[in-house]
Amino acid sequence: MAAGKGTRLKSQLPKVLHEVGGKPLLAHVIAAATSVVPANDVYTIVGHEAGRVRAGLEATGVNFVLQAEQRGTGHALMVAREPLSAYGHVIVLSGDAPRITPQTIAHLLNFHLDEQAAMTLLSADLDNPAGYGRIIRKRSRNNSRSAEVQAIVEENSASPTQKKIHEINAGFYVFAVPKLFSHIEKLSTANPHGERYLTDMAALLRKAGQRVVAWKTENSGEVLGANTRAELASIDQQIRITKCRQLMAEGVTIFYPATCVIDNDVEVAPDTVIEPFVQILGRSRIGAGCRIRSYCVIRDSEIGHGVLIRPGCVLEEARIGPSAVLGPYSHLRPGSDIGEGAHVGNFVETKKIKLGKGSKANHLTYLGDAEIGADVNIGAGTITCNYDGRAKHTTVIEDGVFVGSDSTLVAPVRVGKGAYVAAASCVTEDVPEDALAIGRSRQIVKEGWAREKRAGRGK
Ligand code: UD1
Ligand code: CA
Repeated sequence: MAAGKGTRLKSQLPKVLHEVGGKPLLAHVIAAATSVVPANDVYTIVGHEAGRVRAGLEATGVNFVLQAEQRGTGHALMVAREPLSAYGHVIVLSGDAPRITPQTIAHLLNFHLDEQAAMTLLSADLDNPAGYGRIIRKRSRNNSRSAEVQAIVEENSASPTQKKIHEINAGFYVFAVPKLFSHIEKLSTANPHGERYLTDMAALLRKAGQRVVAWKTENSGEVLGANTRAELASIDQQIRITKCRQLMAEGVTIFYPATCVIDNDVEVAPDTVIEPFVQILGRSRIGAGCRIRSYCVIRDSEIGHGVLIRPGCVLEEARIGPSAVLGPYSHLRPGSDIGEGAHVGNFVETKKIKLGKGSKANHLTYLGDAEIGADVNIGAGTITCNYDGRAKHTTVIEDGVFVGSDSTLVAPVRVGKGAYVAAASCVTEDVPEDALAIGRSRQIVKEGWAREKRAGRGK
């Protein structure tokens, strides 16, 4: 169920597209669902901003069902009646509770089948149950609690006594499909929101003599729903800290983990040290024995062993060879491929380049669309002029070249192996191997000029 607007978030973005742990709430729930059943047996009920939700999750391969008007969680299932009628049982998941695990879903399904129930719901004990539906258990003959459920009472209809119940409805259910649909029409709208609540199915099925049971999970963290910005932040934090703990258990040092943002799919090898305030996002892979200093943001990048990344670097879709040194304040844009032991330093921007083994570009430089060999020295302030206003062109700098500071290399251009480019040159023509290219105007010296000026005789 992912059709709701998420009024409590006060957002233009539909609730289920709000992110925790680096991806939309709904993406987490769909990932859990598709680890239990094949994607083509998953039906996602969309409504509010349906097009946007669909577009965001199309790649998962699940089906979408449109609930054009959102008249409640019960109404959401009424809308899906046709496709669901092909099945014996249906697992219902809430699209805004992202920490649910495949294990719990599978467990809930097995419990439902074992109990031969018409409806099985997932429950949990929460210290603070406010906002959730409360479970009213059926008392068995000897007055002990049983698996059977009498009803679910929503927060806004609960009596003061019922509000004291800590066992909540997690919003995850399994139904026997024929039983669900032979009673679903009876759902009333007599509640403060005038909606059809799926939760009312518990009492409805009970009255019809059907078996309604609850299975309580010990891991109450996984049932939390994100209805407000504060809940989003708290779930995000839990996901982040879980990821950091997992990496630490695998041998990664993370100082001050509460300040680090590491996406779930990120891999980090042992003995890498991550300093405070670092973000490692997307599908990044970090080798062993690296040090990532503070304020780096690394997305979808691959980093070899023993790399030092000094503070303030931004890496996007970059590949860094072993023992390379980056930063402080380097910006490596997509397609940057930095060789083993190479250095990219202060305020250097790279894009779509190959920088060979042991080469250095240490200061204030832009390198774009360039193939740079091994042991090349790129002087401070060097710029590859890769764009002529229409198209991008390539600069080739072969092994062992020395490019003096403040040079501009106007692409397409090639500097041959071992050549020198004099400082402040504008290189517009190819430079042969082992040559020296000087592309600047000759210096003029006017003897005594300054003295004359100070004396007021200057021209
Ligand atoms: C619901 C349950 C509550 C439970 C809680 C657990 C009901 C009436 N209440 O409350 O007992 O404790 O979840 O998190 O079900 N949705 C639709 N179509 C609609 C309305 C909602 O698809 O017409 C979707 C929402 O997008 C959301 C999910 O259903 O993903 C749950 O809806 P929400 O409004 O968040 O229900 P809660 O008030 O949290
Ligand atoms: Ca909710």
